[in-house]
Amino acid sequence: MDGNGRWAKKQGKMRLYGHNVGTESVRACCEYAVEHGIRYLSLFAFSEENWNRPQDEVNGLMELMLKSVLGERETFRKNNIRFRVIGDRSRLSGQLLENIDMVQDETASYTGLTLIVMLSYSGKWDILQASRRYAADCLAAGKELPLDETGFAAYLATAGIPDPDLMIRTSGEQRISNYMLWQCAYTEFYYTPVLWPDFRKNDLELAIQSYNRRERRYGKVE
Ligand code: IPE
Ligand code: MG
Repeated sequence: MDGNGRWAKKQGKMRLYGHNVGTESVRACCEYAVEHGIRYLSLFAFSEENWNRPQDEVNGLMELMLKSVLGERETFRKNNIRFRVIGDRSRLSGQLLENIDMVQDETASYTGLTLIVMLSYSGKWDILQASRRYAADCLAAGKELPLDETGFAAYLATAGIPDPDLMIRTSGEQRISNYMLWQCAYTEFYYTPVLWPDFRKNDLELAIQSYNRRERRYGKVE
């Protein structure tokens, strides 16, 4: 979800205003996903690198996260949405964690859309934490445990969640920015110049139409 700051600047407003309006885009995309039976929608809300932004902006984003989590409880219930947060929990505040956990528990048995918010997340962090946990299991077992791709994926923070079919990047940037590095091995990428606060259902529709025209061969021929 990129381009909030530039969007705000264009309106002569503070960056946080852009982040706020960006939550409207989140709502629109969730609605679209529910309406079209999309099973998983993950949103890159805050990266490990984003901790290096000015403290005011970081605080504002964390407050916005807390407000959204609490504010959307009713939407989750009504729409059968399972809510998950994935990322480095050690950097999040106790209050935010408590509320995230509450809403995760509350929605754990919902069977519609799984909405995943990547918060304090980065792809390299995920691969490292998975490697550390695998190494710890080996130590505990006193031997090198067998490991294959499926086994390694089970150590990732995204365990149990299918790899993304489509990755959409807004605001004209064309890079992966440390997103799901392992999980995106065969993901289709879609880039749009639209800034995140302007990204609405019709933009998501265009991205999915583009995806539907593609042929996925996974390195094979036909
Ligand atoms: C994306 O918008 C939101 C977050 C990273 C939290 P940006 O804040 O990156 O907006 P730009 O890139 O400065 O326009
Ligand atoms: Mg940006």
